[in-house]
Amino acid sequence: MPLGIPEAMEEEHEELHQELRYATKMRGRVGAAAKRVAEVLHPHFERENELALPVIGVARELVEGKSSPDFPKALELADKFRTEYEKMLREHVDIVKTLDELEKAAKAAGKQAVIRFTRKLKAHARTEEDLTYPAVLMIGKLLKE
Ligand SMILES: [Fe+2]
Ligand SMILES: [Fe+2]
Repeated sequence: MPLGIPEAMEEEHEELHQELRYATKMRGRVGAAAKRVAEVLHPHFERENELALPVIGVARELVEGKSSPDFPKALELADKFRTEYEKMLREHVDIVKTLDELEKAAKAAGKQAVIRFTRKLKAHARTEEDLTYPAVLMIGKLLKE
């Protein structure tokens, strides 16, 4: 696959985005708490879509020993991501804090779909910390060799 966000990962981001948008339109505390999630999440997603996820796009070619004209650009992105890595992790902490508040509000209002959304987004962040982000860093290392 060339440099580009893998389809399933793009869909996952898009789906989370839609679900959050739906929650921001709710009245009262749920809507207000959802808006606070959106404020911290939106710039974070953008940076992931720009710096991290396209690098994953070249992972298969790289590990299968093929070459690609996209490797230099992927290396450039992976290097940029490395400088942002700590900040991205801190943003996850902030995002989870706003999600805890949203989950509380959703529980009080009996909004099951919103409760499920908060858990889904937390799991998404953990997968990135355990798998996606390390993969981007490893791809950067391999591309340097
Ligand atoms: Fe993400
Ligand atoms: Fe993230």
